[in-house]
Amino acid sequence: MSKGASVLAGFIPEDKISDIRNSSDIVDVISEYVALKKAGKNFSGLCPFHAEKLPSFTVSPEKQIFHCFGCGQGGNAFTFVMQYHNLSFPESVRFLAQKYGIEIPARQMSAAQKRKLEEKERLLKINQAAAEYFKEVLSDSTLGKPGRDYFSRRQMTPQIIDRFMLGHAPGGWNNLVRYFSKKGVPLDDVEKAGLVIARKIGYYDRFRDRAIFPIFDIHERVVGFGGRSLDESLPKYLNSPETPVYHKSRTLYGLHAAKGACRQSGSVLIVEGYFDLLALHCHGMTNVVATLGTALTKEHLRVLKGYAEQVVLVFDSDEAGMKAAERSLALFMAEKTDARIMILPEGKDPDSFVFEVGGEGFRQVAEQALGIMGFLMASAIKKYGLSLEGKVRIVEALTGPLGSLADGVSRAVYVRDLAERLDIDESAILEQIRTSADKNKKSVSAVKHRHGSKLEETIVAMMLQYPEISSSFNAQEIVESLETTALKNVGRMILDRVRANKAVTGADLIAQTQDAQIRKVISSLSFEEMSWDRDSCLKIVAQYQASLRKQQEKLLLRKIREAEKSNNETLLHELLTEKQRQAQHRVNAL
Ligand code: UTP
Ligand code: MN
Repeated sequence: MSKGASVLAGFIPEDKISDIRNSSDIVDVISEYVALKKAGKNFSGLCPFHAEKLPSFTVSPEKQIFHCFGCGQGGNAFTFVMQYHNLSFPESVRFLAQKYGIEIPARQMSAAQKRKLEEKERLLKINQAAAEYFKEVLSDSTLGKPGRDYFSRRQMTPQIIDRFMLGHAPGGWNNLVRYFSKKGVPLDDVEKAGLVIARKIGYYDRFRDRAIFPIFDIHERVVGFGGRSLDESLPKYLNSPETPVYHKSRTLYGLHAAKGACRQSGSVLIVEGYFDLLALHCHGMTNVVATLGTALTKEHLRVLKGYAEQVVLVFDSDEAGMKAAERSLALFMAEKTDARIMILPEGKDPDSFVFEVGGEGFRQVAEQALGIMGFLMASAIKKYGLSLEGKVRIVEALTGPLGSLADGVSRAVYVRDLAERLDIDESAILEQIRTSADKNKKSVSAVKHRHGSKLEETIVAMMLQYPEISSSFNAQEIVESLETTALKNVGRMILDRVRANKAVTGADLIAQTQDAQIRKVISSLSFEEMSWDRDSCLKIVAQYQASLRKQQEKLLLRKIREAEKSNNETLLHELLTEKQRQAQHRVNAL
């Protein structure tokens, strides 16, 4: 049994864990975050743990495990939740317990874990209470008037105000401070939630005289806030700081309300501002999220690809928007995101544009959004012009991105397109790509996943999928001879279970280890589709034993040669005896 499991047993009773394991369905759990499609008896989708365009992330409802053939990650429902939400094992157990309405006694946790978890829960409660407070203020006939006037000037409908729980933080330095004091909530917690700021004596409100946008996570819990000034006073927007429950680089405003529409349409619009998002909602476009004053991150894209295959980045036409678009391109390429860039007419942002042309008009422009290469080409042509000098510059600017296209067909298409637009020879462009690729070659190192030799893998896969067979050969000795540590560990786990008369399945083994490397090996072995019969199994074992013997003989010969060289008589004698023993062994084995 792995070390992790016994440590964990102290926090959450084993039977609770298996209760949760039995009530949870891995497809149900994962499909909240990954768009899964049925593929034979499994489901597949885009892996949330690495960049990919074609789905190699596979979930088996039958085995209750997942495995990614691209990056090798794998595990069960708990480990998926751990990796996806960056949680510890007990936290992931709790997470699923909550989802399936199973109660876990709190005293089973370590003190530190309990503290952390309770703090998060307190902060979420405080955020929820604050959102309700701001909402109440907004509907207060006198206190809320400035906020209501502001939202109505921005053409927000009552439905949108309600759906997004918009609110108003009144003017004054300590409205929220007093509100929470009255409720008996410790102000240092309110400070940790980012709602008040500590000063030498006491606290003051962070958000004052502002329109308030609660920020939700995908489970519709309030994790942070944005606040806009009601006039042009600066800063225009104020946001919650990073807190234990709010991480800017992972959070996208509006995702909780966009999930369904994203899955339905397969695409998601990314805008920059709160009002941009809300304005699109007002016009019936709900597959939209906003990045909230931070650059788009890898984490954002990995979250998004669970809901939509295509992202449409919507930018103002100004220089800043173009720059931001170019900056994100490397990210899209790295993440293999199917991304389009939608550039709005001069001087418009999504908010003003959609109010001008309406939902249908906006959708039409969105549909014409160019892909990454198309966008880069168009902007390079616009920037450098089609003079001779301009064409040279354009080709220079585009060789990098063209060369980094992994897909040869689409590269050929773009190269031809560019050659036509510039009225030059395709070969000139290809030549450029080749020279710049050669320059970069040395920096590219091929990283491969290796779980040891194929034969070792097959042996352990066989023991996993056909555990009865291990009584038909000396499984213990074979396992101990495996060179790959992870495979050896998995082999040992299997034999332990066989000896204890316990069921051997990938899911059982995964549940038993906290080692991500070992989990990867188990999930990968579980997905090796083979039908085992006794004869072929024993053949494989014999094959393995033969190769093992050869290796041992080679090693022994090398040692003998060394002993001869160094004239070490005693050692030589020992080794020769060993060699004789080996030969005898071989004869016996025949
Ligand atoms: P913009 O300055 O483009 O404003 O900021 P906007 O969204 O069009 O705002 P309105 O229409 O004038 O109200 C885009 C986004 O950048 C973040 C906010 O999330 C904003 O919605 N931002 C902007 C800040 O966080 N702080 C700021 O001071 C300004
Ligand atoms: Mn705006």
